[in-house]
Amino acid sequence: MTSALTPKWSTPDLHAAIKDHYDGLIELYEDLWGEHIHHGYWAEGEPDPGRHAAQVRLIEELLAFGGLSEIAGGARVLDVGCGVGASSVHLAGKLGCTVDGITISSEQIVRAGEKAAEAGVTDRTTFRLMDAMATDYEDGTFDVVWALESCELMPDKRKFLAECARVLKPGGTLLVATWCARDDKLAKDEARLLDRIYRDFVVSHVLPLDHYRTLVEELGLTGIRTADWSEQVADTWKISSEAVKPVVRNPSMVWKLIRAKGMDIFRFLNSVPLMKQAYERNVMRYGVFTATRAGDPS
Ligand SMILES: C[S@@+](CC[C@H](N)C(=O)[O-])C[C@H]1O[C@@H](n2cnc3c(N)ncnc32)[C@H](O)[C@@H]1O
Repeated sequence: MTSALTPKWSTPDLHAAIKDHYDGLIELYEDLWGEHIHHGYWAEGEPDPGRHAAQVRLIEELLAFGGLSEIAGGARVLDVGCGVGASSVHLAGKLGCTVDGITISSEQIVRAGEKAAEAGVTDRTTFRLMDAMATDYEDGTFDVVWALESCELMPDKRKFLAECARVLKPGGTLLVATWCARDDKLAKDEARLLDRIYRDFVVSHVLPLDHYRTLVEELGLTGIRTADWSEQVADTWKISSEAVKPVVRNPSMVWKLIRAKGMDIFRFLNSVPLMKQAYERNVMRYGVFTATRAGDPS
């Protein structure tokens, strides 16, 4: 397997870098992308609804894909890598579920709490600082484990997915959307492109979607379905490139940001055209998968 599909950092270094990245750039993320730190979804032939609506559409499509559009109000959901709580607030508000959001960024915890309060869902949401590869939840706690663009940040995919499976109730649903590699036969320059994205976006590594199917099968989950949504999400990077243009075209603004936030800001701005390139060159793909923990729901 190409070396671009293995972790580039030790886990402590990766976690420290992720924490710095999301703590330090929390405002910039929100300025450029809003509260949803994930791709948008554009259905072919439909008018562009705008970035925010496309991001909400991605959540709706994911729920439909997992067969969860009508999820019971009393369901308990784990939002893994919850960012500033956009999915948690949406699921608690729209479907009435109870949601635990976990992240390793303490700034995100604070912001997610504020968002939940603004949306009036504090009674149904809890945000906790916790490593998703080793949570403190009891076996079989959740009806749904939701991981929207956090799996690519996990250095040990098997350990991460095993933890997701462990905390699911029998009959519960795992739902993952994640950046994927096209396949495991990447040319050297393609692998280099991924390595630059890992560094600039603080991502551990990506895998091809069929590797995830195998991992989830090996963990004993059933009813596995996968889908490639690359075509539907790729416009995210066209829009993001436009969004960063006023910043990158203004050297004094870039220097001001670098002085305030360090080189992370430069890497972050740089990563946007790299992602656009990765989709255009068919190096990066966008995969979703869902599976069920075996056993009868209690
Ligand atoms: C790209 S953001 C996605 C945020 C959110 N799911 C959304 O869609 O808006 C990735 C998130 O994963 C979190 N994360 C990364 N590694 C983690 C870990 N080991 N345990 C828990 N959260 C983690 C980050 O802190 C961040 O909140």
